[in-house]
Amino acid sequence: MNLEETIKKFPYPKHIAIIMDGNGRWAKNRGKLRIFGHENGTKSVKNIVESCSNLGIQCLTLYAFSTENWNRPKLEVKTLMSLLISSLKRESDKLQKNNIRLNPIGNLNLLPLKVSKELFQVVETTKSNSGMVLNLALSYGSRDEIINCVKEIGEKIKNNLISFEKIDETVINQHLYTQNLPDVDLLIRTSGEQRVSNFLLWQIAYAELYFTKVLWPDFTEQDLYKAIDNYQKRERRFGKTSEQVG
Ligand code: IPE
Ligand code: IPE
Ligand code: MG
Repeated sequence: MNLEETIKKFPYPKHIAIIMDGNGRWAKNRGKLRIFGHENGTKSVKNIVESCSNLGIQCLTLYAFSTENWNRPKLEVKTLMSLLISSLKRESDKLQKNNIRLNPIGNLNLLPLKVSKELFQVVETTKSNSGMVLNLALSYGSRDEIINCVKEIGEKIKNNLISFEKIDETVINQHLYTQNLPDVDLLIRTSGEQRVSNFLLWQIAYAELYFTKVLWPDFTEQDLYKAIDNYQKRERRFGKTSEQVG
């Protein structure tokens, strides 16, 4: 039986998050500029979005650009922003056709106007779609998200819209960029690095972590199936004993 058929027999993760890493090294291995890696990375994005949507995954979050990535060389940042615009233009119809809703998360005020215009056009077009939610983490940092969350709640307390005794997990969730989305079940990071790099620190509290050496431009749907298969073989105990959950 092939892997696709095998994974169809067991429950899928509801929410998959991916740290798409290794574009630069992929290009370097071929004696090319880093941007060549980013260009090829967009092909993997297209493939994986489509595969997740075909499988019926509820929610996919892709780490496309971190708050720390603003510190990269100016030219790389500029080219990444242009790539983003062209990908959004190219993929908008496909997202619509596949009933996918685009939901950008991050400090979007920092994005160049051209990017945010294109982004919000696709958000508008896809807003009523009822299939997979595609969260695109752009100018995203988890610490930035937490600071923003604390400020928003603080403001509401100041204006008597909420009492501080009422603060609980639900209230925090409602003030994160990912509001109302399910917790991450499976976090995948490509390229062999084993760190979370300021990604979804609150939301991955009980995620299963999966690291693969495959560089992002080489990541195929078979690699996705492998990650899901690995996830399905794990026992998620959430603090209980094996007997309790078994
Ligand atoms: C991930 O690939 C893409 C972004 C962070 C935008 P990298 O550009 O980090 O690739 P490596 O890690 O240098 O190989
Ligand atoms: C994390 O990758 C950010 C994205 C994939 C968008 P980086 O390549 O920027 O992470 P570090 O700095 O090596 O941890
Ligand atoms: Mg990297």
